[in-house]
Amino acid sequence: MADLSVVVDGLKLPNPFVIGSGPPGTNANVIGKAFDENWGGVICKTVSLDASKVVNVAPRYARMRAQGTKEVIGWQNIELISDRAFETWEDEFKKIKDKYPDRVLIASVMEECNKDAWVELIERCQDCGVDAFELNFSCPHGMPERKMGAAMGQDPELLEEVCGWVHGATKIPVWAKMTPNITHIVDPARASLRGGATGIAAINTILSVMGVNLETLRPEPTVEGYSVPGGYSCKAVRPIALRMVMELAQMMYGDGTAEGEL
Ligand SMILES: Cc1cc2nc3c(=O)[nH]c(=O)nc-3n(C[C@H](O)[C@H](O)[C@H](O)COP(=O)(O)O)c2cc1C
Repeated sequence: MADLSVVVDGLKLPNPFVIGSGPPGTNANVIGKAFDENWGGVICKTVSLDASKVVNVAPRYARMRAQGTKEVIGWQNIELISDRAFETWEDEFKKIKDKYPDRVLIASVMEECNKDAWVELIERCQDCGVDAFELNFSCPHGMPERKMGAAMGQDPELLEEVCGWVHGATKIPVWAKMTPNITHIVDPARASLRGGATGIAAINTILSVMGVNLETLRPEPTVEGYSVPGGYSCKAVRPIALRMVMELAQMMYGDGTAEGEL
């Protein structure tokens, strides 16, 4: 069989196929299934210390379908981060790493702008044996009122500071996940690298309103009459994502801006 193994940021992956943070990484059961299906790595659904502050609603998805074939080409969600207790995640991280020691488990994490909270979150995940971190600075609807997610990711100075806290708390790889909802994606990325992130992940979802229900004149999805712009993903956003990945790669490697000069 062909050898697809790769080393990324010091992480040895049996193949370069990694599941992004979201429903397929929502608990140990589905993460285990992904590894049984031979995925090289899984980034878990984003976790935080206090899940009681996270209230997920339903319905929280809306689809864009191609005319004719009805194939889903775009996907909008207003899903928040994981609403499962952090202690449950600690237990599951340990179980997954015990069962799949050679697979790469990346903890996606998000916290408020508080050094103690970030350091505690990083240290407790690290104690469970996760292989790397992805810092979720990017969820577009992820509790901006608490300056979390994209609200943090649109503020390069803050990102540099938070990445510095994380860098001080761990020696394993740390990837800062960028929001596309910003004019120049390289600015927060550069600040994250300066702060100590060892890699950049892109992109999270693009702020969107999928449509308007012509009967109720409410945007979709609507929950008990209320709505909020959600995050757009899937095939429809790939060209925009690739443009942003290109800009990041040019910043990091292509235009002579080596890491030391960020
Ligand atoms: C239902 C859903 C939930 C998601 N939850 C998270 C999350 O908890 N943390 C995160 O960093 N990204 C989350 N994402 C974003 C994905 O990881 C990914 O960045 C985004 O969907 C764009 O990639 P894609 O077009 O290949 O799906 C979620 C996406 C979807 C569709």
